[in-house]
Amino acid sequence: MKLLDQIRLGNLTLKNSMVMSAMTRSRADINGIVGDLHIEYYTQRVSAGLLITEAINISEQAIGSPFTPGLFTEEQIKAWRKVTRAVHDNGGIIVAQLWHTGRAGHSVDRKGVLPVAPSAVPITAMKHFTSQGLRDYEIPRTLTSDEIKQIIKDYGQAARNAMAAGFDGVELHSANGYLPNQFLADNANIRTDEYGGSIENKSRFVLEVMQELIDAVGADKVGVKLSPFHPYGDILFDNPTATFSYLIGELNKLDFAYVELMKRSPAFPVPDYPEDDEIELFGKQLKQVVIANSGYNKSSAGAELEKGIAKLISFGTLFLANPDLPRRFDKDAPLNEPDRATMFGGGAEGYIDYPFLKW
Ligand SMILES: Cc1cc2nc3c(=O)[nH]c(=O)nc-3n(C[C@H](O)[C@H](O)[C@H](O)COP(=O)(O)O)c2cc1C
Repeated sequence: MKLLDQIRLGNLTLKNSMVMSAMTRSRADINGIVGDLHIEYYTQRVSAGLLITEAINISEQAIGSPFTPGLFTEEQIKAWRKVTRAVHDNGGIIVAQLWHTGRAGHSVDRKGVLPVAPSAVPITAMKHFTSQGLRDYEIPRTLTSDEIKQIIKDYGQAARNAMAAGFDGVELHSANGYLPNQFLADNANIRTDEYGGSIENKSRFVLEVMQELIDAVGADKVGVKLSPFHPYGDILFDNPTATFSYLIGELNKLDFAYVELMKRSPAFPVPDYPEDDEIELFGKQLKQVVIANSGYNKSSAGAELEKGIAKLISFGTLFLANPDLPRRFDKDAPLNEPDRATMFGGGAEGYIDYPFLKW
């Protein structure tokens, strides 16, 4: 079966086509430092062809939620180095997902500082998970163009820090309503400067960050995650097909490792959007390797690879609950069920205690 076959991704040889997608688990300490639990969690999952870390804050300003890790202090880098070393010693490959939350944060977990965003437009369709419980989102502060240039540099520095921490690559988190997605979205970005207005201008931030990452660590070590039709985080487009077709056309001019395409979740329907399958629609336009994501199981993942558009499939919740997912697929073994109550925050429970197959 293709899913379990060895495959090349840039300069890397992956042991199979199964990727663990990024999953925030909110178990870092208050300084954004990862520890022994993280070493264990990622090492347990090295049978994935590629591991993508939980989203990692690129700077203090990027932080939106409590107990999420960072990659901008010496201590944070040193701590991640222990994770990457353990993963490599056990034959795994691991990429760091780079995160700026933009307006998707709250001042209670930002030392009293308001979140920043392309425009002063708050998220209203949902509430935020904070250390003080669920809170309404605040009106974010609009970024100046100098601050935008600084954030782009922060992404570059975080990517260099990821290399210093021993990661095999970096993934720009441009999905799920975080800062890059906010720049792209028509309802979150009402700027009138070079970063707002037209589709070209709204795409500029993502493209400049991608160029910065490529310059920082080399094209073969850079990927990006996009979620074109997924409205999570109050993200809406007048014409998502036009926006993402333009963005993909420009991304195609850059030479980098992969695009992880996350399909919409049925839990967040947008009636006005096209019915198209995102992998068919956008995957076909991409020159880079496509990693298909969202809602896949063994049979739908196999069928997706057979279509020939995506080369790899990423799994979130299934890897969360099944550290030995490739082996379980190989043996057609039953799967552990993910426990929603322990997904975010806490300790070992629901993190490193999902059982491995006994046979
Ligand atoms: C607990 C949890 C945390 C997540 N955190 C992130 C994240 O930090 N970055 C990201 O890009 N996606 C995140 N996601 C989304 C997953 O990477 C994935 O796209 C989504 O779960 C759909 O894939 P699946 O159906 O295989 O689970 C998260 C999902 C879950 C369940």
